[in-house]
Order: sequence, then structure tokens, then C-alpha cells
Amino acid sequence: MSVKILSITLLLVSMCVSCHSSEGTHRHHPGPVPPCCTVVTKGNMTADVVGQIYHELAARGHCVKAIIFYTKDGKLCADPDAQWVKDLIANMTKV
Ligand SMILES: *[C@@H]1O[C@H](CO)[C@@H](O)[C@H](O)[C@H]1NC(C)=O
Ligand SMILES: *[C@@H]1O[C@H](CO)[C@@H](O)[C@H](O)[C@H]1NC(C)=O
Repeated sequence: MSVKILSITLLLVSMCVSCHSSEGTHRHHPGPVPPCCTVVTKGNMTADVVGQIYHELAARGHCVKAIIFYTKDGKLCADPDAQWVKDLIANMTKV
């Protein structure tokens, strides 16, 4: 069990290291790092989405094409091709 926890910890640490190094390449950009999704949620998250606005992201670098919704926990990256996403954005405002 402790071995499992150790390997999960190592995985998280190595993810954090790679996330740091990709942040470094954006350091010359002033202001907040542009939003980027590397993974999108395919599952139906309709119940968690709050507000009436969404963002559309194009694929760029290691970022994938995505719709950003807001939930009470923050941003949510969603799959633009998922049916629940299409249903939701049909009645929301793109910003
Ligand atoms: C997603 O879930 C909502 C309720 O949470 C439901 O109204 C909607 O039909 C679902 N959409 C799909 C594509 O399953
Ligand atoms: C869109 O939302 C408005 C109010 O939030 C509602 O009156 C309308 O019926 C919705 N339309 C669809 C297609 O869900």
C-alpha cells in the first residue's frame, strides 16, 4: 500500500515538474497564461456547469480544441464534439 502511495506521489511530482517547465516557456507573456486545455471531459457535466458564458479554445501546441465552462470549482475543459456540450452552448454566450 505504501509503495502504491509512493508511486502516485512520484507521478504527481513528475507531472508538476513538467508543468513547471512548460510554464517557463510562457514566461515572456505578460499577464495571465492563456487558457489551455491538455485534456477534455467527455462525460456529461451539465449539472455542474454554472453561469451562461463559455470560452472556445483552438488547438495550439500541446493544447487541444476545447470548450471552457465554469463550475463552482473553477474552469472545466470540455470536448467540443460531445453532445452535452453542444446542447449547453446552444443556449449560452461565447465570450
Ligand atoms: C446530460 O445531463 C443532463 C442532466 O444532468 C441531461 O438533461 C442531458 O440530457 C444530458 N445530456 C446528454 C447528451 O446525455
Ligand atoms: C435558453 O435559456 C433561456 C433562459 O435561460 C430559456 O428561456 C430558453 O428556453 C432556453 N432555450 C433552450 C433552447 O434551452
